[in-house]
Amino acid sequence: MNSILSQLNQILEQKYILIEEEDKAPYLTDWRKRYTGKALAVVLPRTTQEVAKIVQLCAANQIALVPQGGNTGFCGGATPDDSGEQIVLNLKRMNTIREIDVANQTITLEAGCILQTVQEKAAEQDFLFPLSLGAEGSCMIGGNLATNAGGTNVLRYGNTRDLCLGLEVVTAKGEIWNGLKGLRKDNTGYDLRDLFIGSEGTLGIITAAVMKLYPLPISQWTTLVATDSIASTIALLNLFQKRATSLLTGFEMMTQESLALNEKHFPRMANPLKGNPPYTVLIELSDHESEAHVRQLLETILEEAFGAGLMTDAVIANNLAQAKTFWHMREHITLAQAEEGANLKHDITIPLSALESFIQETDALIKAQYPGIRIINFGHLGDGNLHYNIAPPLDADHQAFNAAHEKPIYELIYSQVERCHGSISAEHGVGQLKLEGLRAHKGPVAHDIMKALKTALDPQNILNPHKVVSI
Ligand code: FAD
Ligand code: MLT
Ligand code: ZN
Repeated sequence: MNSILSQLNQILEQKYILIEEEDKAPYLTDWRKRYTGKALAVVLPRTTQEVAKIVQLCAANQIALVPQGGNTGFCGGATPDDSGEQIVLNLKRMNTIREIDVANQTITLEAGCILQTVQEKAAEQDFLFPLSLGAEGSCMIGGNLATNAGGTNVLRYGNTRDLCLGLEVVTAKGEIWNGLKGLRKDNTGYDLRDLFIGSEGTLGIITAAVMKLYPLPISQWTTLVATDSIASTIALLNLFQKRATSLLTGFEMMTQESLALNEKHFPRMANPLKGNPPYTVLIELSDHESEAHVRQLLETILEEAFGAGLMTDAVIANNLAQAKTFWHMREHITLAQAEEGANLKHDITIPLSALESFIQETDALIKAQYPGIRIINFGHLGDGNLHYNIAPPLDADHQAFNAAHEKPIYELIYSQVERCHGSISAEHGVGQLKLEGLRAHKGPVAHDIMKALKTALDPQNILNPHKVVSI
């Protein structure tokens, strides 16, 4: 092993090869503190060529590599195993924005760019980079691509996959594939870009990308709306889709229980809607015409929704600062859950037409089986994406409850997801968390195709082994 470290030292300066326990520690535990691994070293390359040389060295010595960005993922994909033989390859030093092409409306950037920085750099040139999520201050574009992250703008702009035009990838052999073309059309056989996006570091290491930019909206209006059932919330969504069409850029649902948890841990994040109603919906409209136009449209739709009995109350943000506090309230639910203690996350999608029946039946089954259990249900309703999270009863020992009941609770929820033809991972990925259940969920044919791809692209199984698929 010493020989590997000294060969690494021919590629990277010693200070970019972390081997002391205290130096490696921040890279070895995931955000939720669910997984902790060990590593031979954590390496911090600066260039694509360095990444390629590190992979060549690891391939020659059959050493596994775990690619890592901001380490904010929820499925343990960026955490090494506990053998102490894997190397974590963190891309944070690869953070150059290579080009903003104004005419082509694209940005070419390295994998270690922090998402928020990308949004800011785009805005400086009057562009919108629409990917937005609660971890944007620390997650990186390579991690976003590797997980095909979703977030709060998907219903208008799509997932990370939809925002990507080209990639640069280091393969498992240590070759560099330069697919950095900013083309909106390219039908030249298999789409390699789409293969690597969402592969969570198991097929290649993403080192750079070309991403789409959009014109910055002139005006955005944000409102919180109270509804009393999931059925009326979905009807409200459909009304907004019909009347606002592409101006609808956010539709986030938060239940009474999730906002009560927010208020418990972050009193300043209390719901401004009186009485914390059963459902609070955060709706955002974005317009390129004028402030007056979008405000008028929002008020007209709200009046219609009120008249149709779809909502009971609303508060419109008066200014940008207030709009930000609405968004902060939504984003703080994840942090409030973390403060509350270990919880069971289920990131699922259900067709909107089946959502009401899913929630009613699953809630009833879980509550009957586990008295006192708390369902912290919120999510990107515009995408049919629920974060159907479970917190143990208030008086329970969280760790003990989760250890005893995690498996049957997952099984119960996932069988309900199957019944409704949904997905067990809407946006967070598979990682090591959902590895076991994936074959059953995808079906043997799809799962075997995934294994065949992994075997073809990484025959030595050195790129993030035992994540997503095991071969
Ligand atoms: P990491 O956690 O470092 O890695 C994630 C996976 O990608 C791992 O499998 C890793 O091996 C692989 N990987 C990382 N970089 C590369 C690379 N360059 N090449 C190849 N593989 C790589 N996710 C959503 O989808 N929507 C949300 O709304 C959302 N909100 C969040 C809010 C909070 C508060 C937090 C903590 C997380 C949230 N997430 C959300 C989850 C997470 O932020 C995303 O999955 C994000 O895309 C991960 O990026 P990262 O840079 O942190 O990746
Ligand atoms: C969100 O939508 O806030 C994230 O996906 C985080 C979570 O699921 O907790
Ligand atoms: Zn989410």
